[in-house]
Amino acid sequence: MASSSFFLCLCFLSLYSTIAMTAQPRKPIDVPFQNNYVPTWASDHIKYINGGNEVQLYLDKYTGTGFQSKGSYLFGHFSMRMRLVPGDSAGTVTAFYLSSQNSEHDEIDFEFLGNRSGQPYILQTNVFTGGKGDREQRIYLWFDPSKGYHYYSILWNLYQIVFFVDDVPIRVFKNSKDLGVRFPFNQPMKIYSSLWNADDWATRGGLEKTNWANAPFIAAYQSFHIDGCEASTEAKFCATQGKRWWDQKEFQDLDGLQYRRLYWVRQKFTIYNYCSDRSRYPAVPPECHRDRDF
Ligand SMILES: *[C@@H]1O[C@H](CO)[C@@H](O)[C@H](O)[C@H]1NC(C)=O
Repeated sequence: MASSSFFLCLCFLSLYSTIAMTAQPRKPIDVPFQNNYVPTWASDHIKYINGGNEVQLYLDKYTGTGFQSKGSYLFGHFSMRMRLVPGDSAGTVTAFYLSSQNSEHDEIDFEFLGNRSGQPYILQTNVFTGGKGDREQRIYLWFDPSKGYHYYSILWNLYQIVFFVDDVPIRVFKNSKDLGVRFPFNQPMKIYSSLWNADDWATRGGLEKTNWANAPFIAAYQSFHIDGCEASTEAKFCATQGKRWWDQKEFQDLDGLQYRRLYWVRQKFTIYNYCSDRSRYPAVPPECHRDRDF
């Protein structure tokens, strides 16, 4: 009895130290929607629950809807808890992204492509720098994202952009300025989310259409805290730039455990990666060389 509880205790300690040694972004604080966000369009298709601690976006055949942060940010950790459209979500797209508002814009995207009941969602990510995108990656998730809430977050500092699903890094975009690739550093971004009909491309390349008999389609959100350096839209830097937690050494690169998790995702769940698409890019895009895989 005594020895087994001692053993349990050791397990707990080693698990704890693994967690403590890993540079995980800070867990967001739960604050209500209205603290940081406003509707962008079709505000009558947004439903507030529990004082705005939970928000639901509705898509019907008339319109989808979306919301955006009040503030603009230069660097930080941006997260949302989301539960995607359940059941037959084919044709629908739910997005969570950061974007600057100018013509040569920077953008960091999560896009969830719905599917027929029982068929898997696709998570597509993309990074635009100075107006140039075309850097799609697509994965399946290791869980059903419509069954419960999961954290989706973006860590953005001067060294890297990391996409996290819960605590698992699924994509890294390193600063490759030295290789001639623009990196978002001087254009504040707002955080956006939206739900809309995209049945011309989303599911099996547009073959599966939205079944409006199942409308309204509902995506739910929680946790509206924003951990970023707030800046005016025209600002080129923030007063506290370089001094916040996400700027510190342990967030300038992934650690060993995080790289192992990233490779696990790449090996097990990747559907598409522009870095390995030689018919589209006969020469490997420069920033892909920063990924140890390519
Ligand atoms: C939908 O399901 C089909 C069949 O399993 C799959 O090929 C496709 O990748 C899935 N996701 C989307 C968004 O099309």
